[in-house]
Amino acid sequence: MTRKIIIDTDPGQDDAVAILLALASPEEIEVLGITAVAGNVPLSLTAKNARIVCELAGKPDVKVYAGCEKPMGRVLVTAEHVHGETGLNGPKLPDPVMELQPEHGVDFIIDTLRAEPAGTVTLCPLGPLTNIATAFQRAPDIVEKVQEIVLMGGAYFEVGNITPTAEFNIYVDPQAAEIVFKSGAPIVVMSLDITHKALVTPARNEAFRAIGNRVGTAVAEMTDFFERFDLAKYGSEGAPLHDPCVTAYLIRPELFSGRHINVEIETQSELTMGMTVADWWGVTDRPPNALFMGTIDAQGFFDLLTERLARL
Ligand code: RIB
Ligand code: CA
Repeated sequence: MTRKIIIDTDPGQDDAVAILLALASPEEIEVLGITAVAGNVPLSLTAKNARIVCELAGKPDVKVYAGCEKPMGRVLVTAEHVHGETGLNGPKLPDPVMELQPEHGVDFIIDTLRAEPAGTVTLCPLGPLTNIATAFQRAPDIVEKVQEIVLMGGAYFEVGNITPTAEFNIYVDPQAAEIVFKSGAPIVVMSLDITHKALVTPARNEAFRAIGNRVGTAVAEMTDFFERFDLAKYGSEGAPLHDPCVTAYLIRPELFSGRHINVEIETQSELTMGMTVADWWGVTDRPPNALFMGTIDAQGFFDLLTERLARL
């Protein structure tokens, strides 16, 4: 059964890999459109990078929209120190030829959810939740039409990567995250608890390079670049590949397991701003609102990713 999805993204090398995996998997995934959001780098760059990735995949017909250029209530925080000045440092990729769609990304999300049969569109946010929350606020009727939200964001056991308590996507727009997590839409959370177990070891990076097509080489060059930051920071044996966990879940959900628990977002304290307060141990009576993933079959994930990238 093919899932119709909207990818909401701030490319970002790991976003790029998530998009490539989706575009390489037409039996499982129909990409209705890609909406760019400000996050890793400003909107002008994320909207450009999303198109660069579609052309790298040989899919210039994918509809790409520019969404919100800043968070709902905070100054934009970007992450060039991780992703480089362009947000897609590593490979040398040509500027996009394909145009942006004229419609605003938020309007595309609203119009698509209203046009498609209820319960048939999955939202896949890979960056700050600004576009999703803005759409929900502007058109509350669409929330019940969402099949599922499968997002990369948050952390519990891994705690934070941008502050001691917060993961980047949630930290950039905590207000948006609160709206999404309180919306009532079914949510699957791929947090750092999962993505920090999906490490691009040298062998896995070599497997990307060994694919032998331009996508494999580009992905190897992206993860090489992305990794330098994480190796220095975590000393781990490789960089966590965050966003493709979202796409892999749509293709092979059995690679993951988790718990249906309550997750609330810190939006008041500057000290813990953007923390995902996940009731993993069920110590409160707060109602469960998210399937919070805890385990991943990491090698199975990389085998799937490498196999699919070879198709492009
Ligand atoms: O914290 C990791 C997340 O922040 C990933 O989505 C990465 O692309 C950045 O957006
Ligand atoms: Ca991202």
